[in-house]
Amino acid sequence: MADILDWTNAHLDTLDTALYEKRADEMAVRLQQETGAGKLPFLTMPYAAQLRKDLDGLKDFLRKFDHMLLLGIGGSALGARALQKAFYPRQDQPGHDGPSLWIADNVDTYALEAYLAKLPPKKTVVVTVSKSGGTIETVGQYFILKEWMKGHLGDDWHRNMLLVTDEEQGFLRGEVNEYGIRALPVPDNLGGRYSVLSAVGLIPALFLGMDVESLMAGAQEVVAPLADPGLTGDTLAGHSAFRLAVWGAALQDKGFAELIFFTYIPLWASFGDWFAQLWAESLGKEGRGSQPVPAVGVTDQHSVNQMFMDGVRNKACLFLTCPNLPAGPKFPTDLPDKFAYVRGKEFGELIQAEGLGTRMALSKSGVPLVEMRLGADSPRQAGKLIGLLGAATILCGWLMGINPLDQPAVELGKRLAKARMDAEGLAEEKADLKSFLNT
Ligand code: PA5
Repeated sequence: MADILDWTNAHLDTLDTALYEKRADEMAVRLQQETGAGKLPFLTMPYAAQLRKDLDGLKDFLRKFDHMLLLGIGGSALGARALQKAFYPRQDQPGHDGPSLWIADNVDTYALEAYLAKLPPKKTVVVTVSKSGGTIETVGQYFILKEWMKGHLGDDWHRNMLLVTDEEQGFLRGEVNEYGIRALPVPDNLGGRYSVLSAVGLIPALFLGMDVESLMAGAQEVVAPLADPGLTGDTLAGHSAFRLAVWGAALQDKGFAELIFFTYIPLWASFGDWFAQLWAESLGKEGRGSQPVPAVGVTDQHSVNQMFMDGVRNKACLFLTCPNLPAGPKFPTDLPDKFAYVRGKEFGELIQAEGLGTRMALSKSGVPLVEMRLGADSPRQAGKLIGLLGAATILCGWLMGINPLDQPAVELGKRLAKARMDAEGLAEEKADLKSFLNT
């Protein structure tokens, strides 16, 4: 795999990376074991034949619709949004004549009412994505959309629904079984934040017309060597995902509490949100981990960058660039002398110069920085990035001695919210709530 990482300003000499580098053999064995046991579908999905078959089987069905309303939250939505914003940025703007994807990933009354009022039921497919099949923010919207479809389509309501959920368990699987709703599975052992390359992210991508094969091929290039049964410690030691994981673990040992994800591909800003969830939910455990901070150039140069440059010295940075962005229009040649330096130059040159300036300034101010340089802003490169960051996150968790695949802390808030809505059981949470509210 051609390395997309530039380590020049990573401050490797000031970090104790050797501590982790020497664990490459151990990590290679663990990768082999867990992949062999089917525990790491993130590494095998991009070349899963069944997934391709499932997606092929959906193509004709999806073609019938102009709108897709995706109900999902967290990992069940953020990957799809990142792909949508990066590759179909104008799909919800005037003049757009292709399919439209709407992502409902909040308990947002205004948005929901707008969907109910404006979407044409016959030409809309409602895709409900929930691995557990029980997330109330998602399932709650499903209940409402189900009634809406019934009201408009009568007995045919289920023909415009698609469910993406666990193969065997959960409330939504029950709905599939009871009503014969079309469904695709989320593989076992695949957490939401690692699921963008499964049906979870690929159905919306396919609907929008994305070259899903290229996306998967890009990811495969990165993850296939990690899932290879013949993987050795030496091969792993040279792999970008392992190197990034080592860097991440060593940074946090030195007190770098924040990891900025600064992208200079403006349309890829939503990958920052995707990465933030991936890194935070996977690694923020047992009082450890670095807080991911998404930022987009050049907008955030004129906002939070002051803090990045000159605030608390606890920040490191992943800096995403692409030297081959569209050039855009040229600046007029008769600009005033004050702006002579841009006369006749392409608009796109400006963001490259600004990216270079910020990257250099951050480096000079002592922020350890790894540049991720993509050859193009294409689905294939997006696949590479997803594969790289997902694998690095898993490996970083292992190096830190924590489980990167669970998210125990976010469960408490969910249980308390349920208790507040008077869900059955939850006696302890209800008592806690009572005392918290002094009632
Ligand atoms: O990454 C995760 O596991 C979470 O963010 C989940 O995706 C999120 O909580 C939604 O869960 P579910 O897909 O079960 O509805």
